[in-house]
Amino acid sequence: MNLPALHHQLYQRIRTAIETGTLEPGERLPSVRALAKEMGVARGTVDQAWALLTGEGYLLARGAAGTVVNPNLQLHSTTRAAPTPLPAQGAQFPDTLWRPGTLMPFQMGVPALDVFPRKLWARLGARYVRGMGIEALDYPPPHGLPGLRAAIAAYLQVARGLSCEAGQVFITSGWRHSLALVAHALLQQGDAAWVESPGYPPTRQLLREAGFTPVPVAVDEHGLNVEQGVAQAAHARLAVVTPANQSPLSVSLALPRRQALLAWASQAGSWVLEDDYDGEFRYCSRPLPALASLDTQGRVLYSGTFSKVLFPGLRVAYLMVPASEVERFERVSRCFFAGAVPAMVQAQVQTFMAEGHFARHIARMRKLYAQRRTATAEALAQGLGTGQRAAPAPGGMHLLLELAPHLDDRRIAQQLLEQGMAVQPLSAWYAGVPAAPGLLIGFTHCSDPADAVRLGQAIRRLTGY
Ligand SMILES: Cc1ncc(COP(=O)(O)O)c(C=O)c1O
Repeated sequence: MNLPALHHQLYQRIRTAIETGTLEPGERLPSVRALAKEMGVARGTVDQAWALLTGEGYLLARGAAGTVVNPNLQLHSTTRAAPTPLPAQGAQFPDTLWRPGTLMPFQMGVPALDVFPRKLWARLGARYVRGMGIEALDYPPPHGLPGLRAAIAAYLQVARGLSCEAGQVFITSGWRHSLALVAHALLQQGDAAWVESPGYPPTRQLLREAGFTPVPVAVDEHGLNVEQGVAQAAHARLAVVTPANQSPLSVSLALPRRQALLAWASQAGSWVLEDDYDGEFRYCSRPLPALASLDTQGRVLYSGTFSKVLFPGLRVAYLMVPASEVERFERVSRCFFAGAVPAMVQAQVQTFMAEGHFARHIARMRKLYAQRRTATAEALAQGLGTGQRAAPAPGGMHLLLELAPHLDDRRIAQQLLEQGMAVQPLSAWYAGVPAAPGLLIGFTHCSDPADAVRLGQAIRRLTGY
């Protein structure tokens, strides 16, 4: 087969990139020398392609300022890649957790990024980079930096009442990684696993995609209905629960239910995975001890994340496994996930913890979130103007506004999204038929109550209250 000449191939590639919007008008291209070097071609080849593209008006040479995509280029609208569309009107919220591509007001689970100590974070990062020896360039240890694993074990002891060794803590890149690690290590294809309903959609989706059978178990004001779980699937190998702030109802798992869950797990020889994604945030009392702190039989695995207490772009989380299971998890972790989190990121979190910033940051955020929770709930009620309120839950990072049973929360959430407000429809969190419609409204990064007034007004218009 005769390939087009090299310069023509390059010309085609750049032209397609411009026409599809990958390269945007005004965007600067690499220098001829750099591109030739990167592609392993002669400079003359790039020159030839550049000459064609400039001649056709795609590129503009700006002397010392380099070559850019012509800022005045009028592209045929059909050839340009359309921006990623928002879900169409009436579209269903998918079963997976949906996130807009950009930060939007009221998005669930987004911490107060506006007050994160970015300067301090940058300083710690710069200090780490300056001090990097060659060993820091090597692969990171497969299950996480020993110092970070030790810092987390100490933190869990103090903050969550958990007694564990550093070797029981596995550093992961987030909840999906922790859950996949548990599933690989402890489950076999087809095994049943209890999941909460309503519950975090990615949990049941991951389990289903990985060949397991999620069994939805109802949640009421006392948390997961353990009795119902036993009646439906006593043989399940795993129960995934959010005991501190049930996701998304924000109730905490009552003590008798905790005891019943642990009793079931030890009788059935099954496992409980505690997803403690935001247990640090409780506003009416001290944070509750973790479910794992009650476990005397080694049946509970505990999953924590830095996504909520620091920031989600970090992608650092952890899984604490019972001492009896450490070897099995080491094997699976080494095989599938070894060294998934960059050493530099881990080291930065470790220093942040060791120097006391972490504890201070959590204390500050707890106070700030208590204020934002009240301010958002009040402003929302003001905007609604109907006497209707989103009851502030004792913990968590969002409010739940219950809607009248005849209302379609997915459609309302969709319409709010089109107005730039990213609330979630409660019904999308149910595995089967939703019990009630509602809107889930993140308050932790809501710094201006006026936004919540506008949200309340928009909800009132859309619901006809
Ligand atoms: C219920 C639940 N579990 C876990 C997580 C944490 O996920 P990750 O660690 O991947 O950020 C979240 C984040 O939104 C969550 O809502």
